[in-house]
Amino acid sequence: MIDIVDPEKNNNALSCLNAMYVGSSGSGKTTAVKQLNIASDDCAVFFDPFGDYADNFKGEKVFTYYSWEDFAENLFKARTLGKPFKIARGFNGRVEKGDFELFCGLAWSCGDATKQPLNVVLEELAKYCDTSGKMDGYVSDLIRIGRKFGLRTHCVFQRGQEVGKTVIGNCAVKWIGYQERENDAIYLSKELGLDAEAIAKLEKLEYIIKTDAHKRGEFDYGKFTFKG
Ligand SMILES: Nc1ncnc2c1ncn2[C@@H]1O[C@H](COP(=O)(O)OP(=O)(O)OP(=O)(O)O)[C@@H](O)[C@H]1O
Ligand SMILES: [Mg+2]
Repeated sequence: MIDIVDPEKNNNALSCLNAMYVGSSGSGKTTAVKQLNIASDDCAVFFDPFGDYADNFKGEKVFTYYSWEDFAENLFKARTLGKPFKIARGFNGRVEKGDFELFCGLAWSCGDATKQPLNVVLEELAKYCDTSGKMDGYVSDLIRIGRKFGLRTHCVFQRGQEVGKTVIGNCAVKWIGYQERENDAIYLSKELGLDAEAIAKLEKLEYIIKTDAHKRGEFDYGKFTFKG
């Protein structure tokens, strides 16, 4: 039996540090999650339908569990111990929307502003839940209210139109990668106040990033490289 509980201790002074990663397949979204905004000594939990995080994260072992019982027990235990951890929910078979919602509920249960912040990585957000209209469910709680409970949600998706304004508006960190379609670049440029041409020019593994340290209209460019 797995219980989802409401987080208890909140702190309204905590900043919103949710992050979004938007780009076509192969643009570098998962690479960005692995390299940029989560430190090796942070707490992080991964919804990992494709095994992207199965080995290690910045040199730290990722403990992947393939049943809800094992995942929930180990996540709650790690949270109680109060040390940094990396835990993933992996899947062997088909992943359903109910799996996503349960994952979000369990991450939500871990909210506690008095503990080290918990990074919650949601791969393929748009595939597993409909966030384009009015959002509900635990994913909505994570993205809209999680900040107060020390929860930092990392939303990974391919097209801006798929997730709607609630997600974009509640992510202080914005990573924008290569867009296959010009219309997608135009949509993002309008939503984010960025130059459409600058987005359209991005190649795979190139990106524009806007963090909470950037002022309105400011951003940086970056590019990932791999050795060998
Ligand atoms: N460790 C690595 N070494 C070499 N190339 C890599 C490595 N990791 C990723 N790549 C390459 O970087 C590119 C981007 O990969 P990444 O998995 O980050 O994309 P993505 O945006 O998450 O794609 P998807 O939407 O399909 O999940 C791919 O072409 C991939 O082959
Ligand atoms: Mg990926």
